[in-house]
Amino acid sequence: MRLLVHSGFFAQAKISEDDDQEEGYVLTSASQLLLKDNPLSVTPFLMAMLDPILTRPWDYVSTWFLNDDPTPFNTAHGRTLWEYAGHEPKLNDFFNEAMASDARLVMHVLINECEGAFEGLKSLVDVGGGTGTVAKAIAKAFPQLDCIVFDLPHVVADLQGTDNLKYVGGNMFEEIPPSDAILLKWILHDWSDEECVKILKQCKEAIKGRGGGKLIIIDMVIGSCKKDEDAMETQLLFDMLMMALVTGQERNEKEWAKLFFDAGFSDYKLKPMLGLRSIIEVYP
Ligand SMILES: C[S@@+](CC[C@H](N)C(=O)[O-])C[C@H]1O[C@@H](n2cnc3c(N)ncnc32)[C@H](O)[C@@H]1O
Repeated sequence: MRLLVHSGFFAQAKISEDDDQEEGYVLTSASQLLLKDNPLSVTPFLMAMLDPILTRPWDYVSTWFLNDDPTPFNTAHGRTLWEYAGHEPKLNDFFNEAMASDARLVMHVLINECEGAFEGLKSLVDVGGGTGTVAKAIAKAFPQLDCIVFDLPHVVADLQGTDNLKYVGGNMFEEIPPSDAILLKWILHDWSDEECVKILKQCKEAIKGRGGGKLIIIDMVIGSCKKDEDAMETQLLFDMLMMALVTGQERNEKEWAKLFFDAGFSDYKLKPMLGLRSIIEVYP
């Protein structure tokens, strides 16, 4: 309990009005995010990160340093995270639910604070949109907008759309459905620079010829919260997590800008949101 209080997960407080000596433990905003009845609970995200399939790669980091595998995940499991999820329904389910819980929290902020990003759009594709939590929130908040959730076939199989939301299975390295805007939430940090430039070029193709076409990226920008040491440390730990699980990394603004210009985009606008994450609009 001492460690959990020190790390801000619980706090100590007086728990009795009559006896000002009696102290107990109370929840903080961090632990409240793990309550089952909190609609913004991120417990599925925590449980996924603690599952042995995702923790085992850490045991293989030193082996991976000495071999040619793309990631410690490959060294531990003999295939990529995405290949494993395509063949193992348990991983596919808990990973998608983890992403959905993060998406519920982020969308709560995005719809309220960044609604301007969606103004004037008629269509939007959420690339790597998982089971559609983000796109559903956008489709509900902006009923005039036609949304597509685009993800690997095993992720979107059997999911039912609505009037202004449909699911399309495919591979973002090959082709992305055309639209006014492409949303990429927590996608590019999964991939190396070369892979990101390929994805970004496919996105540019998908918004080609659309006046006002743009990309909307929700991801971390290292250094966006320099003054908050805990947040900065979390961003750096995510950088390590990307190294262990996938071929990606977290990036600072200079590294992001290089990707955009290498993929042929001409400008971008960056706004920090929700402490750790930023929203980046990228223009052709
Ligand atoms: C980190 S998750 C992010 C999910 C969602 N955007 C969110 O933030 O809640 C990455 C997503 O990319 C999808 N993905 C991986 N490779 C893909 C590919 N080649 N084409 C399309 N989607 C892909 C995964 O299935 C997964 O849903």
